[in-house]
Amino acid sequence: QLVNPILMLQKATEQKKAICALNAHTCESIQAIVWAAQRLGAPVMVAASQSTLQYMGVAEFAAIAKAVAKKADVPVALHLDHCTKFPMIVECIKEGFTSVMIDGSHLPYEENLALAQKVVEVAHAAGVAVESELGRVGGAEDDLNVDEREATFTVPEEAADYVRRSGVDSLAVAIGTAHGVYKGTPKLDLERLSAIRAAVSVPLVLHGASGVPDDAVRAAVARGIAKVNIATELKIPMAGAVREVLLGDENETDPRRYMGHAREVVSAVAEKKILLCGADQIT
Ligand code: 13P
Ligand code: ZN
Ligand code: NA
Repeated sequence: QLVNPILMLQKATEQKKAICALNAHTCESIQAIVWAAQRLGAPVMVAASQSTLQYMGVAEFAAIAKAVAKKADVPVALHLDHCTKFPMIVECIKEGFTSVMIDGSHLPYEENLALAQKVVEVAHAAGVAVESELGRVGGAEDDLNVDEREATFTVPEEAADYVRRSGVDSLAVAIGTAHGVYKGTPKLDLERLSAIRAAVSVPLVLHGASGVPDDAVRAAVARGIAKVNIATELKIPMAGAVREVLLGDENETDPRRYMGHAREVVSAVAEKKILLCGADQIT
């Protein structure tokens, strides 16, 4: 069933487990994600980025996700990922999203905070959860040196002030991860994560989890990450699965075969990530 994720994220925090927020790009990936959670009896978050919603339509994405979630016995949250535009937040709330992320991480501190406050006001009035980001999780392709990178990390004392004044339900932190695939092995600042965890009251979110070694994800969850975002590690095998079927038989033209195979492959990856985060063990 479709739920607001606040309760599951709070439970995850208390139990030192994490919910996976998995980015869906097509109808098949929505099904793949929810069905994986269903098989494991785990809560899950289906995430849509602004560009995915431009591609599919907000109402269309929401309608499909709601229909798929309705058939599942596990809690499913429908989440808007990295939204930079207030009108898009409002549209998603109207269409039944249960969770929204306002991303003002590119803005100066006070502007980021003011934007989050504005989103909290409308979202909470509608019973929708709000995530926002403090510090900046960039792309793995950003060419920053070590000092530049650390300058983008979340500062624990600021996080405490930010969460208190904004009223957000969860906070995305910058501790060394990046979106996309990594050139080398990412190094997470786990000390900083623990300091942030000690300083703020709300569940913490790890972005850019694709390409982060399993051990590092486990360590971050053990130190208080309650939501793990994954996009690229679903996208790459999805493309691979389609390619495999189409290259394997040049006469294959049935979308149910190549997209069906892609759906199975994405679902298997989703299952692996849910198990990695221990979401199936949340009681
Ligand atoms: P990856 O693409 O690195 O998994 O990042 C996903 C993410 O943070 C979505 O918000
Ligand atoms: Zn992200
Ligand atoms: Na990544």
